Amino acid sequence: DRKIKIAPSILSADFANFGAEIRAIEDQGADWVHVDVMDGHFVPNLTFGPAMCKAIRPHIRTVMDVHLMIAPVDPYIAAFAEAGADVITAHVEAGPHIHRTLQAIRATGKKAGLALNPGTPAAAAEELLDLVDLVCVMTVNPGFGGQKFLDLTDKVRTLRRMIGDRPIHIEIDGGVTTGTAPLVAAAGADVLVAGSGVFSGGSVANPAAYGANIAAI
Ligand code: DX5
Ligand code: ZN
Repeated sequence: DRKIKIAPSILSADFANFGAEIRAIEDQGADWVHVDVMDGHFVPNLTFGPAMCKAIRPHIRTVMDVHLMIAPVDPYIAAFAEAGADVITAHVEAGPHIHRTLQAIRATGKKAGLALNPGTPAAAAEELLDLVDLVCVMTVNPGFGGQKFLDLTDKVRTLRRMIGDRPIHIEIDGGVTTGTAPLVAAAGADVLVAGSGVFSGGSVANPAAYGANIAAI
């Protein structure tokens, strides 16, 4: 039973009002809160660090899902764990030693996620599945919200088959709307990140709409 979880990305929230924005999306049914950490090096944009995560943690009643788009990763794992992350996701492309990075995340007691850029094949996750709780399939090239969804449903299907009966989430990140959500859910994804689709025009749309739409297929 893979109940679909909706994880709004606060990358598209009002940066001056994170407390209120998080309360609004959780009141409207968000399952997780997705936090996009960017370093201006691994991706061409800059966002938050561990201090920001720590500041917003008391406002999150659900799950703090931290997506690290940074390289290197290892020097910062302890800081994000101490900031209260529940899930810490690192990119397979972030360095030569992703296996060590995932071990280090697991050693903090947090859930470990592995993210794959659009150009990275599903096979890149194959030897790492015993070390992860989540595989994040990027359906945009990371760095910015509001980009067009890349249809990688075959890759999602391949990963779900490869995962077999392991208890591993497949998260989709980028361009998720009520239109694209059913495609990836049908292919085996169960955590849907949505940034601009939820926080459109400065107001918080209803995240539950994504789940309702999927249930209808
Ligand atoms: C992109 C981020 C995503 C992004 C998704 O680098 O990892 O989480 O915020 O935003 P939308 O839903 O607008 O594509
Ligand atoms: Zn993300």
